[in-house]
Amino acid sequence: MKLFYGAHNISQKDIDSVVEVLKSDYLTQGPKVSEFENKFSKFVGAKYAVAVSNGTVALDLCTKVLGLKKNQNVITTPITFVASANCIRYRDANVWFCDINPDTYNIDLKKLEVLIKTKPKGFFSGIIPVNFAGLPVNLEEVSRIAKKYNLWIIEDSCHSPGGYIINSTGKKIKCGSGTYSDLSIFSFHPVKHIAAGEGGMITTNNKILYDKLNILRTHGITKKKELLNNNDGGWYYEMIDLGYNCRLSDIQCALGISQLDRIGQNLKKRWKIAENYFNHFKNKNYIISQSSLTKGHAYHLYIIQVKNRKELYDFLASNNIYCQIHYIPIHKFPYYSKISNNNENLINSEEYYKKCLTLPIYPELSKNDQQFVINKIDEFFKC
Ligand SMILES: Cc1ncc(COP(=O)(O)O)c(C=O)c1O
Repeated sequence: MKLFYGAHNISQKDIDSVVEVLKSDYLTQGPKVSEFENKFSKFVGAKYAVAVSNGTVALDLCTKVLGLKKNQNVITTPITFVASANCIRYRDANVWFCDINPDTYNIDLKKLEVLIKTKPKGFFSGIIPVNFAGLPVNLEEVSRIAKKYNLWIIEDSCHSPGGYIINSTGKKIKCGSGTYSDLSIFSFHPVKHIAAGEGGMITTNNKILYDKLNILRTHGITKKKELLNNNDGGWYYEMIDLGYNCRLSDIQCALGISQLDRIGQNLKKRWKIAENYFNHFKNKNYIISQSSLTKGHAYHLYIIQVKNRKELYDFLASNNIYCQIHYIPIHKFPYYSKISNNNENLINSEEYYKKCLTLPIYPELSKNDQQFVINKIDEFFKC
């Protein structure tokens, strides 16, 4: 049997929920969309949620509704999926990468403020922090910085539904709650916590942004009476902005709802696997682990660092353990290497990339399989 770094799981209830929609009147633009949005916004503690076709489109819509313009400047991390940076380029704006903290692998907040200070006030428009691997960035601190320099925040929470931080007053602040960000986004790609085939969600507490997102997601068209210039009758709608079709179907939303119903138990399972790996590897001198298990970590990925990463990767693959590398630093890609900024100051990101390896972690990964992974890694380092 092959073990991959991530895997979705589909229950009979998931299947029944999808079949129910297939037999209903609406395959898309029906009641499952708002049901998913309502349940998701409650889950993360935000006022509003907008379901869209994937996480990349969610990011694209966010930079659009925030009014990002050509040649403006936005900061993100190089250790993320390319979509976190591409949404800046979709607006012809400039990508600035800020280095990661070598222990958390998240954007380094001290370096973030240093980078912002190197430029005149108003130079940067926004920040896209990514809760990488499921570990939430300290958004309270990001928000302090953002307020000081008048920046917007898009929280890329694709790895962290159910993740949270404890803020300076001891309050639990969930990823996507909109407490500190203007907009937050999620992905429902099968490898993520909630699998909808493809899918995404944007959450916010900002009614103006929410209304804009709703209109842009469906061609810029509205039927809302208060927004119409004319009204020729019951059929009448107007296109009031240049939007897209970014809708999520009822079929996908039904699957998303059913998966969301068991995210709590799945998060606990992910945590147990992380704990097992952590306890085993923490004192092994051939593995660089994160310094601790962190409360509020959603453990989308479990990452170790090793010196001979390529050899270990190949050895594990030859034993049917297909690990992954998250991520190749974005500024190293041909498209970005010449156009992104601050590339020369990303030492931690580059060092991290040389050694990182993502081990299998997903709710249905059995104890035996976890032990198999551990044994094979130990075996590799003994020979
Ligand atoms: C951090 C991050 N942001 C954005 C995305 C884009 O999401 P999607 O694949 O749903 O477009 C992903 C997906 O892998 C991701 O990991």
